[in-house]
Amino acid sequence: MTEMTPVTEAKPVKLPTLPDAQTVTMVKHWTDRLFSFRVTRPASLRFRSGEFVMIGLMGEPDANGKQKPLLRAYSIASPSWDEELEFYSIKVPDGPLTSRLQHIEVGDKIILRPKPVGTLVHDAILPGKRLWFFATGTGFAPFASLLREPQTYEDYDEVIITHTCREVGELAYGAELIAGLKDDPLIGELIGDKLRYYPTTTREQSPKMGRITDLMRSGEAFRDLGVAPINRETDRAMVCGNLAFNIELKEMLEGYGLREGANSDPKEYVVEKAFVD
Ligand code: A2P
Repeated sequence: MTEMTPVTEAKPVKLPTLPDAQTVTMVKHWTDRLFSFRVTRPASLRFRSGEFVMIGLMGEPDANGKQKPLLRAYSIASPSWDEELEFYSIKVPDGPLTSRLQHIEVGDKIILRPKPVGTLVHDAILPGKRLWFFATGTGFAPFASLLREPQTYEDYDEVIITHTCREVGELAYGAELIAGLKDDPLIGELIGDKLRYYPTTTREQSPKMGRITDLMRSGEAFRDLGVAPINRETDRAMVCGNLAFNIELKEMLEGYGLREGANSDPKEYVVEKAFVD
């Protein structure tokens, strides 16, 4: 019996040089300030849609030549059932991490600590009829996960996602994702006509201009959507954006009678800060 000769010589297995290394499988640049990417998912990682993990790269060597991981909290933008993990990131020119992370390419390794946490999860809010997702900028990321999570549509009659950005181009990641949901084999049917999308811009002309907070205060957002203003009986909310936005919206939601929930104490709304540098 002769042994089959392999056509190509087996390459030596390349061991990860980073702790908790994952391999980049896709990178897409949406604007000069925004990009998304996908990485392999550690087999042991279980998470709830909406949670975040620490990811990053190895830092520059210090005076003694020692390197430490440079990590930041990133919402997982993919749903819990996805085979890979997706992230949506800003590019800050002098940001310690993103100035380097923005240059990753398919095949590169990043560090991913497999310890998911976060409050933007279904477990932290009480049952209701209508679920609001309020996002600014990259605060869309946890909702990119939750919008692809079947439970979102199983638990609510109506889901409204608002996304406020400075410019139209910054809406593209979310707009494309939402446009594709209806054709998604897993949740397309579940969604039916439950999902409403309300994108607004503040510094470039678009069909709907203004901060969502102002549009709610004036009643315009509710009129546009044809829904009654938010109330504690029916409405639940998840908020993710810049700090000023989170504070302002939190006050407004409290004004409507909603109370802030947590994993250990679910209530009517939850808030989390979007990634900043
Ligand atoms: P504006 O252009 O009026 O500041 P950023 O890129 O700075 O994080 O902002 C993202 C979006 O969030 C922008 O459209 C910005 O509007 C809006 N924004 C910033 N602060 C608030 C706030 N306190 N309430 C509502 N929207 C806000």
